Amino acid sequence: MKLVKHIANLGYGSRKDVQWMFREGRITDAAGEVLYADDRRDHDDIRIDGQALDPPTGLLLLLHKPVGYTCSSKDPGRVVFDLFPPRYRAREPQLSTVGRLDRDTSGLLLLTDDGQLLHRIIAPKSKLPKVYLATLAQDLRGDEGALFASGELLLENEKTPLLPAELAVLDTRTARLTLHEGRYHQVRRMFAAVGNHVEALHRERIGGLDLGVLPQGQWRALGEAERARLFAGDIE
Ligand code: URA
Repeated sequence: MKLVKHIANLGYGSRKDVQWMFREGRITDAAGEVLYADDRRDHDDIRIDGQALDPPTGLLLLLHKPVGYTCSSKDPGRVVFDLFPPRYRAREPQLSTVGRLDRDTSGLLLLTDDGQLLHRIIAPKSKLPKVYLATLAQDLRGDEGALFASGELLLENEKTPLLPAELAVLDTRTARLTLHEGRYHQVRRMFAAVGNHVEALHRERIGGLDLGVLPQGQWRALGEAERARLFAGDIE
């Protein structure tokens, strides 16, 4: 691919903007030699104002989503894309969230520009486990675990019962819930179905991947080893 298109696709500007960046001598190789728009270089050998380029297409990003941010890019309020450099919004192909977390949910959120990977993660048959920590408004009754594990819980306005999910009670109002699907507001609706209310919700894990020590609001790109960990235990 031509350098101008490659750099424009990474969100650094329109093709015209990038042409100007070449003209201004802002685009160099790693040794500092000024590049021209028709030069050929590997991605890793290109610098803009001395800085390495953002990662190329095929990104998988891990974000520690804070409460108060939505996953929709159209929301007028704070959106998760605000937590990335503005040019990430202009990347082609576009970055999308892998599924969604509610505005009031914190924790592990993946983003990718790889449609196939996105599909592999969210496709119903992938059944990748997603682990949530829920803080509840009422004491647990004691029968929730059996109901959630039964594969017979039918949520309001749904036609098919939920897949079996595993509940681990941590104390009277805190529980860890592992789901193998992702329906709309699923955790909140499951606890509502047993007369409770989720006061705080945090996603700890997807597949074999957790947040580690990544602080809230921070993100990082995942490499091959971590991608493999995501699918560790995948039943596909
Ligand atoms: N279930 C919910 O209710 N909310 C989320 O954000 C994720 C799962």
